Amino acid sequence: MNNRPLTGKSRRTSIKAALAQERETPGVHLGGWVRTVRGGKELTFLELNDGSCFASLQVVVEENSPAANDIARIGTGACIEVTGDLVISPASGQRWELKAAEICLLGGTDADYPLQKKRHSLEFLRTIAHLRPRSNTFGAVFRVRNALSFAVHRFFQEQGFLYVQTPIITANDCEGAGEMFRVTTLDPKTPPTKDGEIVWGEDFFGEKTGLTVSGQLQAELFATAFSDVYTFGPTFRAENSNTSRHVAEFWMIEPEMAFADLGDNCRLAENFFRYMVVHALENCAEDLKFFNDRIEKGLIDKLEQLAGAEFKIVTYTEAVALLQKSGQKFSYAVEWGLDLQSEHERWLTEKIIGGPVFVIDYPAQIKAFYMRRNEDGHTVAAMDMLVPRVGEIIGGSQREERREFLEARMREVGISPESLSWYLDIRRWGSCPHAGFGLGFERLLMYVTGMENIRDVIPFPRTPGNARF
Ligand code: 4AD
Ligand code: MG
Repeated sequence: MNNRPLTGKSRRTSIKAALAQERETPGVHLGGWVRTVRGGKELTFLELNDGSCFASLQVVVEENSPAANDIARIGTGACIEVTGDLVISPASGQRWELKAAEICLLGGTDADYPLQKKRHSLEFLRTIAHLRPRSNTFGAVFRVRNALSFAVHRFFQEQGFLYVQTPIITANDCEGAGEMFRVTTLDPKTPPTKDGEIVWGEDFFGEKTGLTVSGQLQAELFATAFSDVYTFGPTFRAENSNTSRHVAEFWMIEPEMAFADLGDNCRLAENFFRYMVVHALENCAEDLKFFNDRIEKGLIDKLEQLAGAEFKIVTYTEAVALLQKSGQKFSYAVEWGLDLQSEHERWLTEKIIGGPVFVIDYPAQIKAFYMRRNEDGHTVAAMDMLVPRVGEIIGGSQREERREFLEARMREVGISPESLSWYLDIRRWGSCPHAGFGLGFERLLMYVTGMENIRDVIPFPRTPGNARF
C-alpha cells in the first residue's frame, strides 16, 4: 500500500548519499525539512536538510515546472518530498543542487515556526527541545552522540568484553550517597505505616527500591563469571545540583575487569578515551569542523593532540600539594582529607597539568565503600580521570576483593552486610582482584564537541524542575 503521491520511502535517497554522488544523476528522490526559502518569481531556492549530514541540499524550483505548484505554501520548517535531477551547481560553495521536477508538501508550516533563519541562543533552543534537533548545532551534537554510542560497543566488543544490561530498578545505592529516586506503587496519601514509618515490605518489590545510580555492583558479579564486561545504560541521580555538568538522568559506560588492578584500569580508561576521540575525528569530520568554528576554537587541534598524548598520573596527595603550591585562591579549601571540588579539578587539569590526568589513591573516607584499601591503611585504590573544560569525566577503582576488609568497611559506613550478602558472596566463592570505572557519556560528549552545558548534549535533559519534553 502506498498512498503517498510520490515514490515510497524505499526509493528515497538521503541527502548525505546524494551529496556524495560522483556524477550527475536523474530522478533522485529526497525527503526533508526546509531550512530557508529564497529567490524570486522565476527561480526559488529551498535549502533542504534531512539530518543525515550537516550540509543541506539546495533545491531549485523553476517558475513553470510542476514542482512550483505548491511553492507559495512552502516555508521554513515545512516537510517536503521532492524528485528531480541532481546536477552540478553553478553557485559557489556547493557541488550539487537538485533541479526539482515534482514536489509534495507533506507538512506545512507558518510564520510562528521558531527556527527561522537567525541564530538562536543555546538557552532559547533548550526551551524548544522538541524542535532543536532541526538546528545546525543540535544536528551535529546528536550525530556525534550516535557515532560515539556505536564506538563504545565497537571498542569493547573488539577487546572481547561482554555487554551486560544491569537493572534500572534496584534496592541498592551503589555510591552510598543516598541520591536515589524512589520507585514505589504505594499510595502516597495512605502508605502502610508502623510506628510512624512506612512499611516498605508492603511495596511492590517487598523492599525499598529506587532507580539505579550505577550498574557497577551487578557488573562486578558478571566480571566474576565472564572476566571482562561492560554496561552502557541510563543512570539516575536525585542530587539537587543545578550545574552545567550534572543531569538527573545520564548515560554511563561501566567496564569491569577480573584479574586487573588500578594500573590496568587506568590503561583501559586511557585507551578507551583515546579510541572515542579518534573515532569522532575519523567519522564526524564535518560536524567537528562546525564545533571547531562556532563552539570551541582549536577543538580539532585539541582532539588531535590528545590522540597522541600520554595521560599523566598523580596521587591525590600530590594533587593536593600541587594545588596548595599553585597560589590560586579557591572558594573551597584544599586540604588533605577533603574531596576535590570541581574548581580544584579544573585548575589541576587545565593549568597545572595542561591535559588529561588521572588522580589516584584517594583518602578512604571520601570514597565509596567498595574501593580496595591500599597498604598504607588510609587511602584506597581509586582513580578519577580529569580533563580540561569538563573536570571529572571518569570515576573508578580497584575493588576490595578481600571479604574481611570489605565487610569491615561496610560496617564502618553503616551498610548492613546482610543487605548486600550477594555482593559479599563473590568474595567468598572464587574472589579475584578486579577493577572498573564509570565514564559519563554526556561528559565525554562535552569534551568532544566543546559544548559547555551538559543539557546541550543529551536529547531531553532531566534537571531539577525540568522533565517537560
Ligand atoms: O564517579 P561516579 O559516581 O562513579 C560511579 O558511579 C562508579 N560506580 C563507577 C564505576 O566504578 N563503575 O560516576 C562516574 C561518572 C562521573 O565521572 C561522571 O562522568 C558521570 O559518571 N556522572 C555524571 N554525569 C552527569 N550528571 C551527573 N549527575 C553525574 N554523576 C556522575
Ligand atoms: Mg566520581
